[in-house]
Amino acid sequence: MAFFGNSGSGESFFRNPMGLDYDYQPKLVKYREGEMKQIAAAMRPLFQKRSGRNVFIFGPSGVGKTVAVRNLLQELEQETDDIALFYINCWKCDTTFKILLEMCSVIGYKFTQNKRGDELFDIVKKDINKKAAVFVFDEVDKLGDIDFLYNVIEEVFNKSLILITNHKDWVAELDTRIKSRLTAELLEFRPYNLTETRGVLQQRLEFVFAPDVWEDAAFESVVQKSSVMQDIRSGLYLMKEAANVAEERNSNRITAADVAVAMKKLEEFSIKKTDELEDETRFILNIVKKNSGKKIGEIYDAYKEAGGNMVYKTFQRRITKLEDDRFIAAEKVVGGSGGSTTLLKFGQEKKLTEF
Ligand SMILES: Nc1ncnc2c1ncn2[C@@H]1O[C@H](COP(=O)(O)OP(=O)(O)OP(=O)(O)O)[C@@H](O)[C@H]1O
Ligand SMILES: [Mg+2]
Repeated sequence: MAFFGNSGSGESFFRNPMGLDYDYQPKLVKYREGEMKQIAAAMRPLFQKRSGRNVFIFGPSGVGKTVAVRNLLQELEQETDDIALFYINCWKCDTTFKILLEMCSVIGYKFTQNKRGDELFDIVKKDINKKAAVFVFDEVDKLGDIDFLYNVIEEVFNKSLILITNHKDWVAELDTRIKSRLTAELLEFRPYNLTETRGVLQQRLEFVFAPDVWEDAAFESVVQKSSVMQDIRSGLYLMKEAANVAEERNSNRITAADVAVAMKKLEEFSIKKTDELEDETRFILNIVKKNSGKKIGEIYDAYKEAGGNMVYKTFQRRITKLEDDRFIAAEKVVGGSGGSTTLLKFGQEKKLTEF
């Protein structure tokens, strides 16, 4: 009965293990001062009860878009009660109704049962129009019903809309009716360079771990890998996994060998298992797998031949979704005999949203 023999007896590596939780909000967001300044400036008119500006933030995964904006919201919350703050993750709240329920809960309105969406919007609107509001729509491209944005733009007076996505094209493809009213500033979040990646991870390491538990070479290999993947999440994942591996073998230090084991796990990692995909999407994924590297048009033909019956536009949307979840990679090829096209490859890269 020695299964739990060492539990709790050895000194733990961790000082603040929650610092590696996927939704942990660090107090300081390094290297994003410029971006945060621009966003703050867009919100500033709200303090004088004037309308703020809108910002459209884009950039790849794991580069601090969410963390930077949430940090600003926290600061605003401490600064004033006169601005209502709404942070909506459109992946989780993907319908107008879910968003409205979320907004009602933010303003503290509880009598939502048996009410229609337009009634809820009226309630929220009345409340907000007494003051000012910031709306953050994170992962906004996942929003099913764009009309809701239109209503917010038209009917809420003193506001800033902050829209976040991985896809720069999203705004360009918006309905002109919304686009012409939105007039958002564009703000790109570029990937961190090697030094910045090291800086972010170092800061987290010092917060999470007891001093001197990390071998220098071990930490450095985490930094290198995270920098190659251009995604801070991969570095955080490796730190957590390597620590688990070291703890498991009762070591008092985390070594490069522990990181190597963690890297193997990282390669096997996928945000969602394919069996969580909806049937038709899994069917499409299988077609891409069989035709990896081919043009999207050819893959669509193969899909139809195999019995698929979606129209091309719908098919394309599923492809984008699979790309977002990193089951597949899409590469745009400009020019060539048949004009521009997109090549699809079966997924190598994986996104780390939760670990
Ligand atoms: N400058 C930074 N300082 C501290 N932590 C950071 C910084 N940049 C990123 N992180 C951390 O890296 C992780 C990913 O950052 P974040 O969630 O903001 O990425 P994102 O750009 O929103 O990615 P996605 O497009 O996938 O949503 C988070 O755990 C965050 O805390
Ligand atoms: Mg994000």
